[in-house]
Amino acid sequence: MNQRYALFSALISLLLFSCRNGRYVSVSAATCHPDDESGLLAFKSGFTEDPSGMLSNWKPGTDCCQWSGINCRENNRVTTVTLNGQPDNPKSYLSGTFSPLLSKVQNLDGIYFQNLRNITGTFPRFVFDLPKLIYVYIENNKLSGPLPNDIGRLSRFGALSVTGNRFFGSIPSSISQLTQLGQLRLSNNLLTGPIPDGLRQLKTLTYLDLAGNRLSGKIPNFFNSFPDLLFLVLSRNKFTGGIPTSIASLAPKLINLELGNNQLSEKIPEFISNFKALDTLDLSSNQFSGVLPKSFKNLTKIFNLNLARNNLVDPFPDLAVKGIESLDLSYNKFKLGKIPKWVTSSTIIYSLKLAGCGIKMRLEDWKPSETFFYDFIDLSDNEISGSAVNLVNSTEYLVGFSASGNQLNFNLSDIKLPKTLKYLDLSKNQLFGSVPQSVVGLEKLNLSYNKLCGMIPANKFPAAVFAGNACLCRAPLSPCRRQ
Ligand SMILES: *[C@@H]1O[C@H](CO)[C@@H](O)[C@H](O)[C@H]1NC(C)=O
Ligand SMILES: *[C@@H]1O[C@H](CO)[C@@H](O)[C@H](O)[C@H]1NC(C)=O
Ligand SMILES: *[C@@H]1O[C@H](CO)[C@@H](O)[C@H](O)[C@H]1NC(C)=O
Ligand SMILES: *[C@@H]1O[C@H](CO)[C@@H](O)[C@H](O)[C@H]1NC(C)=O
Ligand SMILES: *[C@@H]1O[C@H](CO)[C@@H](O)[C@H](O)[C@H]1NC(C)=O
Repeated sequence: MNQRYALFSALISLLLFSCRNGRYVSVSAATCHPDDESGLLAFKSGFTEDPSGMLSNWKPGTDCCQWSGINCRENNRVTTVTLNGQPDNPKSYLSGTFSPLLSKVQNLDGIYFQNLRNITGTFPRFVFDLPKLIYVYIENNKLSGPLPNDIGRLSRFGALSVTGNRFFGSIPSSISQLTQLGQLRLSNNLLTGPIPDGLRQLKTLTYLDLAGNRLSGKIPNFFNSFPDLLFLVLSRNKFTGGIPTSIASLAPKLINLELGNNQLSEKIPEFISNFKALDTLDLSSNQFSGVLPKSFKNLTKIFNLNLARNNLVDPFPDLAVKGIESLDLSYNKFKLGKIPKWVTSSTIIYSLKLAGCGIKMRLEDWKPSETFFYDFIDLSDNEISGSAVNLVNSTEYLVGFSASGNQLNFNLSDIKLPKTLKYLDLSKNQLFGSVPQSVVGLEKLNLSYNKLCGMIPANKFPAAVFAGNACLCRAPLSPCRRQ
């Protein structure tokens, strides 16, 4: 046995011995750097409420590297703090403010404060005092005020997300100095003004999300500056004008293009079809007009397509997609006649919205390849006749079904609703029979303007949802007359 091996095995047994006695653990506990411990404890004291106990093991004298949400590297210095509220747990939030004393934790390179919901205060300026900080995600809290004018000083940042707060004012022009950013997410705030032209300096962006603000003006024509951009999300703002031509240079890599809910106009450009990798295209609720380019059918990878609420006209090209997952073409000027074959044949579709699309058929004649995954179907305001009984019965997980404003004529007593259903709108059809017991547990219902008759089962809905039928009676309508 050579000497080194002997030394090594001696060390190992010493380690094992101390571990077994719990001593090794307690020795390491002392190694959390005192500045980190005191900085984190000061940070904790900025919170006034922690009902789910997110920070309950942040206790003085214990190893702060073991505290929940803390990561350490390099000589046990704290490098990341992660505090995540659980969106589906109403008690999982923090109240209070982000204490500036977090700046004592000098080796931090990432902070992830997500869904804490009830943190107030302004932009946390302590980030300027953390020399190694690169990744900053402060999402879904309640911070407000302007973004700092000197935000450009954070030029080493690789990711900045302040999505879901209440920041207002314009996007500071110094943002052009954040030239290392891969991700910039300022979505769901109250930001106003145009997109600063200096954003073109952020040449390494892969993800740009400015959705859900009040940004205005034209979308700048600067997209040839972003060779790596994969996600471009500018929905729910007040942008005007057309889709800038330089967006063409994001092909073929771009995966998501979301420009919905703006005031964009003009035609949908031919170059859209060069986006061979496009998975999600949302141009809904704008004023796009004219025909779709013929080459649109080249978008063979598209899974989520939303063109609803524009002024687009026929012909709608036959898409050569492998399978669509969600589709919304509602309320354009399309006269599709039938539900397109490439929709009917999709085996992965979960959301189909073709309201006001000029569909004229018997619903029984629609034979979708797969109904198993359907969550939402909206076929309102078409000329669809026949019965919805078989379609609804063939779904397993349907949450919402709307077919208002058609010519459906079937006995509503025959319908069998999936357990998952929450919303049902069959208003303005020619349904007959009576209101089945199964609808009373739904969250939303509308059976108005049909030919229903008989006693309404006890329910919580207002009279309006039963109005305009043949002879429905009992609450919330008038009592039934004695025979
Ligand atoms: C949010 O914080 C404020 C002030 O910090 C507090 O008054 C309020 O009760 C908190 N809200 C919730 C839902 O806890
Ligand atoms: C795209 O569509 C056009 C027009 O339909 C067609 O001529 C062209 O060959 C297609 N390009 C590719 C790369 O598929
Ligand atoms: C619903 O579907 C099941 C199974 O596919 C079938 O047995 C049943 O008869 C259908 N019910 C109605 C009302 O169509
Ligand atoms: C509707 O169906 C129910 C149950 O199958 C039946 O009792 C009723 O007579 C039907 N109503 C009409 C108007 O056909
Ligand atoms: C029910 O449907 C009618 C007709 O489509 C519509 O006018 C009304 O607003 C709807 N009511 C509710 C409560 O959804």
